[in-house]
Amino acid sequence: MSEFDNQILRDPRRNKGTAFTIEERQKYGLMGLLPNIVETMETQIRRVQIQLDHFERPIQKYIYLTALLDSNETLFFKTIISDPAKYLPLVYTPTVGEACERFGHIMRQSRALFISIDQKDNIKALLKNWPVKDVRFTVVTDGERILGLGDLGICGIGIPIGKLILYTSCAGVPPEHTLPIVLDAGTNNETFLNDPLYPGLKKKRVSGKEFDDFVEAFVSAINEVFPKICIQWEDFAGKDAIRILEKYRDKVSTFNDDMQGTAAIATAGIITGSRFSGKSFREQRILFFGAGAAAFGIAEMLVHKFQKDGLSKEEALQNVWMFDINGLLVRSRNDLADYQKPFAHDSEPSNDFAKSILKIKPTAIIGVSTVGGAFNQQVIENMCAVNERPVIFPYSNPTSRSECTAEQAYTWSKGKAIFASGSPFAPVTFEGKIFRPGQGNNVYIFPAVGLAIFATEAKRVTDEMFVTAAEAVAEQITEENFANGLIYPLIDNILEVSYNVAVKVAEKIFESGLASVKKPADIRTFIKSKMYEPKYQ
Ligand code: NAI
Repeated sequence: MSEFDNQILRDPRRNKGTAFTIEERQKYGLMGLLPNIVETMETQIRRVQIQLDHFERPIQKYIYLTALLDSNETLFFKTIISDPAKYLPLVYTPTVGEACERFGHIMRQSRALFISIDQKDNIKALLKNWPVKDVRFTVVTDGERILGLGDLGICGIGIPIGKLILYTSCAGVPPEHTLPIVLDAGTNNETFLNDPLYPGLKKKRVSGKEFDDFVEAFVSAINEVFPKICIQWEDFAGKDAIRILEKYRDKVSTFNDDMQGTAAIATAGIITGSRFSGKSFREQRILFFGAGAAAFGIAEMLVHKFQKDGLSKEEALQNVWMFDINGLLVRSRNDLADYQKPFAHDSEPSNDFAKSILKIKPTAIIGVSTVGGAFNQQVIENMCAVNERPVIFPYSNPTSRSECTAEQAYTWSKGKAIFASGSPFAPVTFEGKIFRPGQGNNVYIFPAVGLAIFATEAKRVTDEMFVTAAEAVAEQITEENFANGLIYPLIDNILEVSYNVAVKVAEKIFESGLASVKKPADIRTFIKSKMYEPKYQ
């Protein structure tokens, strides 16, 4: 056995690999354990890039990158930050979807905590096994609705791991304060239940009181073990997501990015649209196609923003309309869920979406229906008939479910559409002009909100913070951006964008009295000082 602490080579947080200096190698007993040469981080990044370029399939790159994260965290984050547009899709969507589906087969050492319902009475002990004592952020899933892929059980852990990578890469939340968790309440995925390599509980999901008690035990234990924790709920099934958020949002520091982050980025798009379309936000009228969990989250946030801009709640609700599988949401319908009722209006029933547009005259349509192609030529043309610059947001994922393509929106609107989608679309050339379709990606919102929460140690997470984040994202779009069809910032600038958003959100947190730290004289400097930078110590 070596008399030295050369385990440092196995500690991803402190490991520098070939960048250890000769002095450090002597100090830690690393001489001979590394090639004799001392390299800069730039050289190490070049080697990472060359290796990545050798892999053909994104999943291979994902496996390589997560292995790097588990061996040299600093190098991993420096690599991602060096080219976010290139690397983020490899560590998060779309690649993470396949990684989750195959987690049981590609699993190596994972930086995550696995809490099974069998351990319900022992959760505190499990949390205490995590080597870091000051955890501030957890992203937690039960794996029931992973992206558009359905129930992946504990293989859904790839999502919390990926999301927390984004917190650090996109907004500088220090990785040592983050903890990915999966709650294993079983799975209804038959393929997994029959797969000997599935690493989760081999039983059907529990639901109802048993599930709620499990979640309650988790919330209580984690707040006890990590008193400054903020819990982000991720990819729970819609019914559970809404219920859990409502239950805990006023009791602990918590939010749901699927609902609030998505809602904020959609709201940011509507704000940007209003900035450049000549109609104030108050004059916007939004018609949803699809009236499920996503529509509800966005609609609530829009109502908050309308109220912030001076409308009463009743007036705000007048500006939000919805259409679902049974037609327009009108008061005379008796099949509406409770959460849908505030958005039902005194109006004639209709099953014709295109015709409803001519009647309601929305400034924006948002598709969250999962019905690919639903925004047909008639729909887009009717939007043009009632708007100079119609806002068209087909938000359903994946691409095959998008209510229309970018090309269709720009072509059918003759280049007038203000367009953003849930899934990415390539730039479109229409009549010699190139349009860059926006993607309503939560990544502009949640890492920045997370940084503000981390820095201020916010006691609660409110919708107002997300409205502030939406405004701050929209503010960063210049006229030139907009002229090129951009309604969201470029991903290459994500750290700078997130920093600006976090400053605004932190101001809001201080103003609302929700911060646990003293308000600093200069919030910009304060936020900057809290941001992680991947450099060797
Ligand atoms: P959900 O199942 O809760 O709601 C779907 C809604 O669409 C229901 O109201 C249903 O009645 C309606 N619908 C279905 N078929 C229809 C039809 N033929 N005509 C009219 N309405 C119809 O689903 P959820 O969770 O609201 O998600 C919807 C979509 O939004 C998914 O594709 C999801 O990927 C996407 N989404 C996108 C996000 C983004 O950031 N772009 C974030 C969250 C969800």
